[in-house]
Amino acid sequence: MTGAAEAAGEQGLAGVDRREAAVVVRDLVKRYPGRARAAVDGVSFSVARGEVFGLVGTNGAGKSTTVGVLTTLVAATSGTVVVGGRDVRTDPAGARGRLAVVTQHHNLDRSLSVRQNLVVHARYHRVPRRRAHDRADALLERFGLGDRAGSRPDRLSGGQQQRAKIARALMHEPAVLFVDEPSTALDPRARLVVSEVLGEVNARGTTVVLTTHDLAEAERWCHRVGIVDRGRLLAVDTPAALGASAADAVAVELVVAPGPVDGPGAVVAGLGSTAGVRRVEVAPAAGTDGAAEGTWLRLRLLTGADPTVPLAEALEALRGWACEVREVRVSRPSLEDVFLELTGGAGR
Ligand SMILES: Nc1ncnc2c1ncn2[C@@H]1O[C@H](COP(=O)(O)OP(=O)(O)OP(=O)(O)O)[C@@H](O)[C@H]1O
Ligand SMILES: [Mg+2]
Repeated sequence: MTGAAEAAGEQGLAGVDRREAAVVVRDLVKRYPGRARAAVDGVSFSVARGEVFGLVGTNGAGKSTTVGVLTTLVAATSGTVVVGGRDVRTDPAGARGRLAVVTQHHNLDRSLSVRQNLVVHARYHRVPRRRAHDRADALLERFGLGDRAGSRPDRLSGGQQQRAKIARALMHEPAVLFVDEPSTALDPRARLVVSEVLGEVNARGTTVVLTTHDLAEAERWCHRVGIVDRGRLLAVDTPAALGASAADAVAVELVVAPGPVDGPGAVVAGLGSTAGVRRVEVAPAAGTDGAAEGTWLRLRLLTGADPTVPLAEALEALRGWACEVREVRVSRPSLEDVFLELTGGAGR
């Protein structure tokens, strides 16, 4: 997703001008009655105008609750939320006029056609009749639903329904579009289409706030992401900056066959003392892969942020030991690595 907000993403939380911000959240707390733990437990962040911002986190992290408060559907326990310049507590109607929300639930009206769903939504937001009809036709066409305008929503595929929900949300030209789990239950092809739709919406200037538990998706779609865990915001930054914070995890991955002289142990030890290599990890089971006389060794050399020197040195050393190199790959920490590090690992 490309957009004008790359620069805004670079600014980070402190740099976002409050007047320019599309969304400002300060010390947000939400406690549901009868629940011991707060669903949202003191969250602050800002979203710049034109940005695509993602809240990522596991099930129950508090993403939908946060979106619920930001879209006036859930009342906050405490804290301040301003969307499109309107405080959601003191001016919910004003905020609602500037935002739109696509929820996790299937909530197209099944008794209306797809087109009627769009028009009714626009009329609710006081869009003049003529304009509502024109806009419905334009949006349905834009999102590839022109020939499904007269269909009932339950005749549409999951991907088409998701696109129809996004089209409906855009009917009153919101400044900020909230999308809760845009691609859950969609096949890869439908995901791609929804991704294109959101990219296009953002390219036309709409700020997009989405939630997802798919980290690869967040990395691809968002200028900045906030990592949410158990109601708290653990980090907010660009995917690249979050990745750089885990630079220790940059690795050179190698598949090699030890040479005739040096056995696997000697190769591992030798690479371990190569300049710039901090540690060598040996994959538990090396495949034989039809190599009659030897076992392929699968190795990860952990390096610093720039693997250039250790990579060159390692290849030079392997050449010296007459080792055959079958695969070389540099792996950089993904958002998933960062996420697991921040949230305490997979097995907590
Ligand atoms: N209406 C409610 N009443 C009571 N507790 C709720 C309510 N809605 C959510 N919760 C609780 O608040 C916490 C956060 O839920 P929330 O739906 O915000 O998480 P989420 O990050 O959106 O999860 P998911 O990825 O499953 O959609 C959970 O512990 C959930 O059980
Ligand atoms: Mg949710």
